[in-house]
Amino acid sequence: MMTDITEAVRAGSTELAAAMATISGPLQYDETAYHLPISFAITGTAVSDADSAREAYAGSGENPLVAWECIRAHRTASDGAEGAPYTGFIPDAEIRKLGYSLVDGSILGLCLIVGRPERADISAALCRELQEKYMLTFLAGPVVSSLLDANVKVGLAYRLVPLGSTASHAIHFADILARVAMIFGGVAPGDAERLLAYAAERRARAMVIAFPGLSDEEIASIDALRLLGIPILHTGGYTGGEWIATEGTEAVRTGMDLLGIKVTVTAIPIPMGCSPAFEGKSIRKEEMYVEFGGNRSPAFELLRMRDPSEVVDGRVTVIGPEIEEIQEGSAVPLAILVDVAGSNFRKDYEPVLERRIHNFVNYGEGSWHTAQRDLIWVRLSKEAVKNGLRIEHLGRLLAAKFRMDFPDLLEAVQVTLVTDRAEVERLKAEAEAIYAERDDRIRGMRDDDVDTFYSCTLCQTFAPDHVCIITPERPALCGAISWLDGRIAHEISPAGANQPVQKGAELDRNGGEFEGVNRFLKKASHGAVDRCRLYSVVEYPMTCCGCFEAIALVLPEVNGIMVVNREYKGETPSGMTFSTLAGTIGGGAQTPGFAGISKGFILSDRFLQAEGGIERLVWIPSNLKEELGPRLRARLAEKGMADLFEQIATEHEATTIEELMAFLDQVGHPALSMRELF
Ligand code: SF4
Ligand code: NI
Repeated sequence: MMTDITEAVRAGSTELAAAMATISGPLQYDETAYHLPISFAITGTAVSDADSAREAYAGSGENPLVAWECIRAHRTASDGAEGAPYTGFIPDAEIRKLGYSLVDGSILGLCLIVGRPERADISAALCRELQEKYMLTFLAGPVVSSLLDANVKVGLAYRLVPLGSTASHAIHFADILARVAMIFGGVAPGDAERLLAYAAERRARAMVIAFPGLSDEEIASIDALRLLGIPILHTGGYTGGEWIATEGTEAVRTGMDLLGIKVTVTAIPIPMGCSPAFEGKSIRKEEMYVEFGGNRSPAFELLRMRDPSEVVDGRVTVIGPEIEEIQEGSAVPLAILVDVAGSNFRKDYEPVLERRIHNFVNYGEGSWHTAQRDLIWVRLSKEAVKNGLRIEHLGRLLAAKFRMDFPDLLEAVQVTLVTDRAEVERLKAEAEAIYAERDDRIRGMRDDDVDTFYSCTLCQTFAPDHVCIITPERPALCGAISWLDGRIAHEISPAGANQPVQKGAELDRNGGEFEGVNRFLKKASHGAVDRCRLYSVVEYPMTCCGCFEAIALVLPEVNGIMVVNREYKGETPSGMTFSTLAGTIGGGAQTPGFAGISKGFILSDRFLQAEGGIERLVWIPSNLKEELGPRLRARLAEKGMADLFEQIATEHEATTIEELMAFLDQVGHPALSMRELF
């Protein structure tokens, strides 16, 4: 039976309008600064209950997206949230975390799948294709159970996000797009015109694939996504309207073509899938066939530049036991040695490329990797081994991915995997000497020693005027790019998002203001920003896009500065949570008193330099304090401020400004006697 879209939309819209009249009670989501995000973005009304929902709906000119959102929120409030595997509403912090993948090319677009697939293998194949083509996919309705029937793993870690059990839960796909516009795009709540223009620019490239079986109300809701410039494809069962008919097997390609997304996926001939879609997965103990490192056996990884005569491109060697000689469940020693050669390659690129081993191993559907150097921990899954995965294939994967991702830098890559204990131990000692040498070289690197910084404008995809300036002592606020990364990225791709920035004359030493940086900023931000103090939170701080790892902000009451990281969900002495604070900055704007920073920047000598140094730091969440622990202690000790570590409060000492004041007084925190911040 064919469903006529035009008729269904008419009938469904009437149902939505009728339902709007009957909803009641409070309507809200947790862990967001954007209330009901679509209603907020379109109307500027912070919907909190049924009455404000109706107000927003009327104010929006009865926009069906607003109705859909409010009705869904009402139903969730009265039925209770759905449990596993469904995610429901996705918190702001998750979207911010996605930010970097959305700009660095590892997620090329977003896809929503709704409806009831005829057979489980059809939806499974569709989702696999989306994973392999670097798409982030959201699922709403019976498609989720059909995937589970086909034993497909779902979850954000697999880039297959099960929003809920009905197509109506697909509103959470739309509320993500609304938040991308507000978080990264600087679209002001209520500026519907800007929102639509932003959507039309297709900064977040999104599409819908609909299987048959949607109700009138669901069709009217999904159809409203076209208001956001989203094409809707279907695999049959519908006629009329603006939906685009495709053969099921062509849907992904047709949709990506429509969005202008080009992707060439070169399959690596190994017996497991390989895509950034698998990067976030984990392999639990019960699922693992063998593990390496992780304190269970000696293991390390090392990437070295070699003379071209010593590297045979594509050669993979395994020294020691292969998978068939290894008992299920065991811990085995491992050395991963990647030898590279290339006329444009330089020795100081080694550590930067070495860190890619982590990503590449995780791209494997059945291989998992964590940490780096001699701290690595690697697992291979039982399932993958059952499908024929051997240790040798890890080498194949690495050799292929390095060549694919660095074609201009590497002419030859060979990989040696050692599982023989004595040999691993011998080589590990050599590797440790090399790590130490590298650390010495990088540790000494100061902003004063270089005359060139690097820019990053990757996030302009979403925040059109945002520019990051990356210096040796100030890594990018997303935590993903160091000065050395910027330099290498520029050498690999001279016209790319990372450009050299001549420092030029120093205008303010303490604040870190440079003539050349200002000039660059003005041009790269299209005139929106014309000065920046790299080491300041108070005056002319760097602009924020939305993917900062942490926020530093002034607490005038205690003459200090606090930092809160994305992972911390509780209250802070500023009176706001991370997500609320984050909602007030970003979009490429400069906000005096606030700076988006990476967690690592806290350890830098330039951190808070303009405000008098790390002595200004009065509060950080305990999870961050723990994470930085030994390194922060060491930095403070070097500065002769070993006591400061205990004087910096966490949520255990204070969650309000009054408690913080009392604590700082009691421990005699140095910030209290520093010069006034304003
Ligand atoms: Fe975005 Fe800045 Fe990170 Fe580049 S360095 S990806 S612009 S946050
Ligand atoms: Ni960003």
